[in-house]
Amino acid sequence: MKNVLSGIQPTGDMHLGNYFGAVQNWVRLQEQYHCTYGVVDYHSMTMPYKADTLRENTWKMVFYLLACGIKSENLFIQSLVPEHVELSWVLGCVTSYGELSRMTQFKDKTDQLFETDNDAFVSSGLFVYPVLQAADILIYHADYVPVGKDQQQHLELSRDVAHRFNRQFGKEYFRHPEPLFTETPKILSPADPTKKMSKSLGEKHYINLFGEEDRIRKQIKSAVTDTGDTPAGQMSPGVQNLFELLRACGNLTAHDALMADYRAGALKYSDLKEEVAHTVVALVHPLRERYAELNADKRAVKAQIQESSAEIRKRAQQTMREVRELTGLVGMK
Ligand code: TRP
Repeated sequence: MKNVLSGIQPTGDMHLGNYFGAVQNWVRLQEQYHCTYGVVDYHSMTMPYKADTLRENTWKMVFYLLACGIKSENLFIQSLVPEHVELSWVLGCVTSYGELSRMTQFKDKTDQLFETDNDAFVSSGLFVYPVLQAADILIYHADYVPVGKDQQQHLELSRDVAHRFNRQFGKEYFRHPEPLFTETPKILSPADPTKKMSKSLGEKHYINLFGEEDRIRKQIKSAVTDTGDTPAGQMSPGVQNLFELLRACGNLTAHDALMADYRAGALKYSDLKEEVAHTVVALVHPLRERYAELNADKRAVKAQIQESSAEIRKRAQQTMREVRELTGLVGMK
């Protein structure tokens, strides 16, 4: 069976964009592949953060992922597998300063920092973060990495680094991971459907999967439909987004019926919103129930993830034994 590896940063809430864009796909991949998914807390240290919030968000993300259907044996917390950092050091020594300087996400994130603060602190962790990502992937000999297009450049770097390592140490040791760009629905902000749903835009711009159901309904009912600048005869992004949500939830019957109304010029937006609200709430309801169940026995769930992380760590340790051997480091007792 082929290996799949992916990682998600513990950012706090999980919204519909995260769910349809990534997590739902991760859940499905578990049927076909040997999947390993990490909550990558080391990565979240690269931008300004608070210690307590990081730990809290890491656990929150674990519970969310489990509630969505990620199997606990496939899930680990990155910092419980410190070998990621060890490998990232080794890989950093076969990564050039030049190639890291070309990473566009580094520039984007730096710009983001300077937007709010002229004297912003840009950590070197942020600069070398793609090497840590390469370590995440290579340490488990992943064949496929499900990611969004925004991670394509980091994936290419992982391949280049694997290639350089293999050449330098004279062995086809690391696999060359391939991105898995599954067509996933792109969900837009309900408050500004010209932008992608995202936490960084602010609270009204994302629909929290595990928030109040009433809030989900309200946000959908007040979603922006007409922005006024859509050319005649074209569907506005807000309306498209509502249709996309129906499709993402698998309610094709309602999608097609309402689309027929739209084409006939007979669509009432209130009907569309009503249907979307109903469909989304029905979809998230069982996930939320599962989340509540998991939370009822927090300690047991945490112990389970400590356990799965320890199991997954054994694979990482095996890789590190081999890497030490290949690279000239002294073997551990
Ligand atoms: N960098 C990714 C992001 O910001 C998260 C990530 C970390 C990741 N390690 C990974 C994704 C390994 C895929 C594989 O979204």
